[in-house]
Amino acid sequence: MSEFGWGSTTDEVLAGKDLSGRTVFITGANSGLGQETARAMAARGAEVIMAGRDQAKLDEAVAAIRTEHPKAQLETLTVDLTSLENIRAATSRARQRFQKIDILINNAGVMATPFQHTHDGFEMQIGTNHFGHFALTGELFPLIERGHLKRIVNLSSRGHHFAPVDFDDPHFTQRAYDPWISYGHSKTANVLFSVGLDARYSVLGIHAYAVHPGGIETNLGRHMTEEMREALMARVTSRDSGFQWKSIPQGAATSCWAATAEELEGKGGVYCEDCHVGEVDDESSTGGVRSYAVNSSYADRLWAMSEEATGVRYPS
Ligand SMILES: NC(=O)c1ccc[n+]([C@@H]2O[C@H](COP(=O)([O-])OP(=O)(O)OC[C@H]3O[C@@H](n4cnc5c(N)ncnc54)[C@H](OP(=O)(O)O)[C@@H]3O)[C@@H](O)[C@H]2O)c1
Repeated sequence: MSEFGWGSTTDEVLAGKDLSGRTVFITGANSGLGQETARAMAARGAEVIMAGRDQAKLDEAVAAIRTEHPKAQLETLTVDLTSLENIRAATSRARQRFQKIDILINNAGVMATPFQHTHDGFEMQIGTNHFGHFALTGELFPLIERGHLKRIVNLSSRGHHFAPVDFDDPHFTQRAYDPWISYGHSKTANVLFSVGLDARYSVLGIHAYAVHPGGIETNLGRHMTEEMREALMARVTSRDSGFQWKSIPQGAATSCWAATAEELEGKGGVYCEDCHVGEVDDESSTGGVRSYAVNSSYADRLWAMSEEATGVRYPS
């Protein structure tokens, strides 16, 4: 049983841990939970590769972390998850610059975007949140294989309760676009990707974990209109009358826990929230993971669809 919970912070979860010699790669590290995860891990001695799509924003995030931790070992890498070509170029640079990755945190994400498409024609939310990370992780695999105590953490969300992955219409070509169904199924894909990774690569000592960080006020809500924000809050509070926002260090704590907790060693393919492993639950509106998100046949189906869509082949 985890000693941490809803209100635990990054620094509490990592207290006493020595991450020196470990390399952590974090996407979306210039903002919100990604930046705080980078700060907290660098504070414990990790070398952190901060990935983002805008060098100026990455530089600002590095400067902010260094004001608190002047000796933080921080590197930056620009990568835009909406372009397979950009992902291939960025990961090729990463393979030249870095020796290994011990912990990969696929944290970047968008929520409730208008109906838009990535450079490769994927609907924007599943394209960024899932296909982009599927391609990135596959291209970084040679570095991950060289890591120690290898873990991959995929940021999902309780929003995965909104929808299973629609394998027949992943890009909303045959139905009306709904920004919440789209976010929900992209976040279900993040859990299924964790299940698929763990099933294939635990034999290589690589374990994968999905994380719901909680509700945290970050830049994630930037695409919501005021009306959408009010409707979302009404929906959240009707399902969870005790809903409270977490602070950013509380929100990033479950990523830090999933990436480092000793009690999780060898126990991947799970969904974590509030610094513990969530139960499979198809009814609860206040926690747990839906069975469709941890179903191994759906995970295989998503894997095959993602290899086909991105052209990225993982080692067999
Ligand atoms: N906050 C919450 O309540 C909450 C709840 C559940 C799950 N989550 C998940 O937690 C993760 C982190 O979210 P956050 O709350 O920290 O949001 P955030 O502050 O908006 O950070 C998201 C990060 O993703 C990056 N990003 C977006 N599109 C990208 C792209 N095409 N290529 C590369 N990077 C891209 C953003 O870069 P730019 O700054 O350049 O846009 C930013 O660095 C997300 O996966 C989200 O779904 C958050």
